[in-house]
Amino acid sequence: MSDAYRIVAIPGDGVGPEVVGAARRVVDAVAEAFGFAVAWSDVAAGGVAIDAHGVAIRPEDVERCRNADAVLLGAVGGPAWSDPSSSVRPEQALFALRGGLGLFANLRPVTVHPSLLGASPLRPELLDGVDLLIVRELTGGIYFGDRTEPAGEPGERSALDTMPYHEREVRRIVRLACDLARSRRGRVTQVDKANVLATSRLWRTVTDEVARDYPDVAVAHQLVDSCAMLLVRRPASFDVIVTENLFGDILSDEAAVLAGSLGMLPSASLGERRTAHGVFGLYEPIHGSAPDIAGQDRANPIGTILSAAMLLRMSLGREDAAAAIEAAVGRALDDGWRTMDLADAADAHDGLVVVGTTAMATAVIQRLAAPVGLAS
Ligand code: IPM
Ligand code: MG
Repeated sequence: MSDAYRIVAIPGDGVGPEVVGAARRVVDAVAEAFGFAVAWSDVAAGGVAIDAHGVAIRPEDVERCRNADAVLLGAVGGPAWSDPSSSVRPEQALFALRGGLGLFANLRPVTVHPSLLGASPLRPELLDGVDLLIVRELTGGIYFGDRTEPAGEPGERSALDTMPYHEREVRRIVRLACDLARSRRGRVTQVDKANVLATSRLWRTVTDEVARDYPDVAVAHQLVDSCAMLLVRRPASFDVIVTENLFGDILSDEAAVLAGSLGMLPSASLGERRTAHGVFGLYEPIHGSAPDIAGQDRANPIGTILSAAMLLRMSLGREDAAAAIEAAVGRALDDGWRTMDLADAADAHDGLVVVGTTAMATAVIQRLAAPVGLAS
């Protein structure tokens, strides 16, 4: 057996510990099936870290993440820590990790599993062929720009957020989007608000410059408002969408509706640093901490399980294990297993099994095929 891969788990808040726990079981099972070892360590981040240490994540814990091969994160935040006047907030952990570890590229793939066509409010024929990848810039723009918190007397209060971008930040993410498009359908849609925002006009100029190096990739610009409309009107027409931080955040939640539930979608946050096995990254579902269902074994773990598959593929170089997990998720869905977020729209008589977080993970584990050659 090779040396163990080192993964830091950040369960976080709300349903985070449940979905990370489920994904860990799947990773451990696939590791056993494929004959490799994973050494897990835990880091506290978000509300739990505020309670324990007074900060959303301690600098030494960011360093522990940096020294691992990859990080698997659940979700952070919740009503206990949402006082707008507080200077310490759970989400600061995400920004410390994304910014501190240089994870500038957030990949959010959106596909529609055939057996979940009925779980989306969109007509099934619109969903046919949906296979898009949102490439969200993650360490710049309005999330990281200078800001002034609300201040002043009532009636005179004001606040300020700023959205800076340097061409270096735009170029590297657009290049990545074009590289990724080459192994897909060869189309990149760069999304902005260039009719209003100066940063968007910078994005357009730099994108056009990058596009010259990719004559084999069809690069187009689109305004974010029109993109939001087209994402539900003809979602199958998109391949790679590359966009700035805030637009990517908003469009990816919208795109999750295509997949049937926010609970389905994984993400990978990558930087430039390579490890012994691949590229260092942080992997997390795109959903939040869902405090209303926390601790009830009701959350959909599939977004986190598929994030773990992305981790295995991109950070650990284990395409075999990643594909096995993705296939097992597909088989569990084909066999009718659903968490409650996916069952809402279902017909009670169509033979679906509505289960909790733990049972869904078990259903996936039971469908993990042994690697070719090791099958008995
Ligand atoms: C996401 C989340 C975060 C973001 C929140 C929790 C700060 O919505 O990862 O999409 O806006 O980036
Ligand atoms: Mg979001």
